[in-house]
Amino acid sequence: MIIETFDNTTQEILKELEKTQKEFWNISRVTAEFLYNMIVDSKSKSVIEVGTSNGYSGIWLGKALKQTGGKLTTIEFYDKRLDVAKENFEKCGVADIIETRKGDAATILEYLPEDFKVDFAFIDANKAQYIKFFHLIEPHLNIGGYIACDNVISHASKVQTFLDDINANPNYENVVLPLPAGLSLAKKLR
Ligand SMILES: C[S@@+](CC[C@H](N)C(=O)[O-])C[C@H]1O[C@@H](n2cnc3c(N)ncnc32)[C@H](O)[C@@H]1O
Repeated sequence: MIIETFDNTTQEILKELEKTQKEFWNISRVTAEFLYNMIVDSKSKSVIEVGTSNGYSGIWLGKALKQTGGKLTTIEFYDKRLDVAKENFEKCGVADIIETRKGDAATILEYLPEDFKVDFAFIDANKAQYIKFFHLIEPHLNIGGYIACDNVISHASKVQTFLDDINANPNYENVVLPLPAGLSLAKKLR
């Protein structure tokens, strides 16, 4: 198991956070392991996350980026959750490669510098805004990069416009994976 390759403190914190998974809307461990493998295998260096919560997924993304030598930018508008996430990033030894951004993700994404490039985007926030987040991240995503979105099965009706949009886009190859909650994974082809 991947978690066993992490230091003891990180293992303990992740297991502790899994006890409050429903309260903080965290991704499942199996989804986290999948994202970890995708980032390591694709050698992604620039990752952006929309929806930090208490940092559970961010710890996994950060640990993957420690393998690739990359960095994570993660966005959350709820400051109490972001404070907890920052503490968790410190304790797990990933704070040095994680930039936390507090505020509305749509606004933050809209004002990303033009030269901000992304290899891997993970969207896990307001489901009705997935299509907006996709359109705002799209110009920054490198060819060959990925955009993964959680809850596409559990919140199917709310994300349908996003799925229809990305499925109709010839520049993307999108699949929906039967992980808990449903994870869509799209590769930018051109
Ligand atoms: C499903 S939780 C994220 C869970 C986290 N990815 C994890 O697995 O540990 C969604 C988070 O996104 C935040 N959020 C929702 N819409 C947002 C928006 N438009 N801008 C910033 N944060 C948002 C919520 O406050 C919530 O903490």
